[in-house]
Amino acid sequence: MRIDIISVVPALMNSFFEHSICARAAKAGLVEVVFHDLHDFSEKKHKQVDDYPFGGGAGMVMAVEPLSKCIEFLKSEREYNEIIYFSPDGIVLKQGLVNQLSLGENLLFICGHYKGIDERIRERYVTKEISIGDYVLSGGELAAAVTADAIIRLIPGAIGDESSALTDSFQDGLLAPPVYTRPASFDGMDVPEVLLSGHGKKIEEWRHEQAVLRTQTRRPDLLD
Ligand code: ADE
Repeated sequence: MRIDIISVVPALMNSFFEHSICARAAKAGLVEVVFHDLHDFSEKKHKQVDDYPFGGGAGMVMAVEPLSKCIEFLKSEREYNEIIYFSPDGIVLKQGLVNQLSLGENLLFICGHYKGIDERIRERYVTKEISIGDYVLSGGELAAAVTADAIIRLIPGAIGDESSALTDSFQDGLLAPPVYTRPASFDGMDVPEVLLSGHGKKIEEWRHEQAVLRTQTRRPDLLD
């Protein structure tokens, strides 16, 4: 899989992609994440990429020309499964959408800044708009990193134990059950007996019960 990310501050994401599961997946050749600095596509003298909004008002708008130039250049090189713009008015990211995106071969992410991007870019190029929650970030970079991380960890081989991505919270519509490791007893707090029993079927049943219980108490909306 390849993910291209267009941003005005690609440096914001470097450290994340260099020090996470994403870096390991990239080293293993499972994914390639490529950053594109929008300033490189500006024809203005000072590499400006924003302008004042028509109609007035506070804040700047990311201009149509550099974005269009960058997107056209990338589209001439490969076909994208989705061109995604990160914005608080997009659909809220859920595991189902992450699963769907993880099946793609090429994804193009556009990170907005300032007041957002010129609407004509959304009309002409964007195939999906994604929000990571009902709050406003100062740019789309963190949303792009969150989305890329959620996608990349699903690629077979990206995380150590392949079965564990499938037992994540949300994969079966339930939150994950509690987990424990050694020691079996800590300061008067004991690990549930069943987990020490070695009885696979009982452990599975206990985990399922706990997942349902946890979902009922913390996120009943997921059971609707
Ligand atoms: N850009 C600004 N806020 C955002 C959000 N909540 N989700 C995605 N992109 C954003």
